[in-house]
Amino acid sequence: MDAVFLLQADHQTIRNYFERIRAAEHLKDVRALFQGLRDELNLHTRVEETFFYPLFRSRRGFETLVDESYQDHQEIRDILTEIDDMPARSTEIVDRILSLQHRVDLHLQKEETDFLARVRDACTPDELEELGRQMEEMKNHERPRIHQEAA
Ligand SMILES: [Fe+2]
Ligand SMILES: [Fe+2]
Repeated sequence: MDAVFLLQADHQTIRNYFERIRAAEHLKDVRALFQGLRDELNLHTRVEETFFYPLFRSRRGFETLVDESYQDHQEIRDILTEIDDMPARSTEIVDRILSLQHRVDLHLQKEETDFLARVRDACTPDELEELGRQMEEMKNHERPRIHQEAA
């Protein structure tokens, strides 16, 4: 799959998690969904930081975008850790997830409207296909490990 489509599909998965969390009626469902969201976000940001950002960092016109994206990821990871550390019964978790959603939404929007649009212009379809293949390989390799750890 082409790298841009792959990242967009991940973004959609992440957005769906937030919607399901907002619709959840019980705190225990919120917690379970949050774990899925956290794993998805961690994997997505790691894939981007492994294959995607380093490739574009040195290209003209991408420097600021890439630097900001690393900072966004760090902020997102900090909020994820903070939520992870909240007491199991805390009802504040929902508020904190909503502020995480706001932060994540801004980042995904920036990537989609700016970053990915420029990537599409800067790469050939073959390059995007190859990049996507490497990203998928990493995801397939890492995903079973995450689920094993969660079990
Ligand atoms: Fe990102
Ligand atoms: Fe992304």
